[in-house]
Amino acid sequence: MDAKRFSHAHALLHWYDQHRRTLPWRSAPGETPDPYRVWLSEVMLQQTTVAAVTPRFAAWVARWPSFADLARAEDADVMAAWAGLGYYARARNLVACAKVVMAEHGGAFPRTEATLRTLPGLGAYTAAAVAAIAFGERAVVVDANVERVVARLVAISVPLPAARKAIRAAADTITPDVRAGDFAQAMMDLGSSLCTVRAPKCLLCPLREGCEGFAGGAPETLPVKAKKAAKPQRFGTIFWLQRGDDVLLVTRPDTGLLGGMRALPTGVWGDAPPGLADAPAQADWRLLDATVAHGFTHFDLQLGLAIATIDAHHPRIDGQWWPVADLHNAGLPTVFAKAASKIRSLS
Ligand code: ADE
Repeated sequence: MDAKRFSHAHALLHWYDQHRRTLPWRSAPGETPDPYRVWLSEVMLQQTTVAAVTPRFAAWVARWPSFADLARAEDADVMAAWAGLGYYARARNLVACAKVVMAEHGGAFPRTEATLRTLPGLGAYTAAAVAAIAFGERAVVVDANVERVVARLVAISVPLPAARKAIRAAADTITPDVRAGDFAQAMMDLGSSLCTVRAPKCLLCPLREGCEGFAGGAPETLPVKAKKAAKPQRFGTIFWLQRGDDVLLVTRPDTGLLGGMRALPTGVWGDAPPGLADAPAQADWRLLDATVAHGFTHFDLQLGLAIATIDAHHPRIDGQWWPVADLHNAGLPTVFAKAASKIRSLS
């Protein structure tokens, strides 16, 4: 490692020793990290903020404190416990991974990045983060925070995503051989507290002296992002079918968006509002004068809201009758929870 690179790592680790955040999944200095907690937190923190993850992490480890507990969990319970965190394939992969760890690795994580990468749901980021944080392996850990810090540090002006290769190579050159886990988390903490997207606090930054973005005078313009194509708009209808104090819920097919999640019935999502087509039962449906909008990664969805009531003698309907008063315990994904509260406020 050359002198400049060493000085980045050294200065950053020194800063981390004074300013590290205390987070529920982090081990204290000198304490041995629990790989289960490290892995779980890293999966939860992909696409989800520290503030949103913190209470959910605590509830999860209280219920399933180890790989063995999670491997024995019911899929439906796990999916419901993930409700609201989004990107639900992550939850399915957690259980799949816990099962592989129990069946093929004697109940403990393998300790190298390369072997971790073979487990369900462990992509490049998660495998590197677990190898570094849980096992101290020198692995190059690059998330969005690290990407921003590195792009500024070496002034990479190529737009993302094309810049990823160069950012990774630069991250590799500054990653030290020791304290790999602390270094990775120090980069993340720096990115979230000082090297922020809009108004970086360069005067407080331990890397300011060697930072080419700071020297250039406009670090907040880095990394440059390529313009995103507009998202397509899709439409559907949510059907709220009430029988006494209960509402009809279904389980979405395992494959596809929100797969395996409990949900309100919707028809197919298409290019135009479908109205009452695809209702789950014959009933006197009424379309409310309101919609619910939700942004997914690849499209925006607008859902009409239809309501109907039926009596107990209605022919059998596929699904599960769920007490309306207990709907907050159904584990509904955010879009359905939003729709349910809107329908209840309007009907
Ligand atoms: N974001 C993702 N992983 C993190 C970690 N270990 N600490 C802080 N922020 C994070």
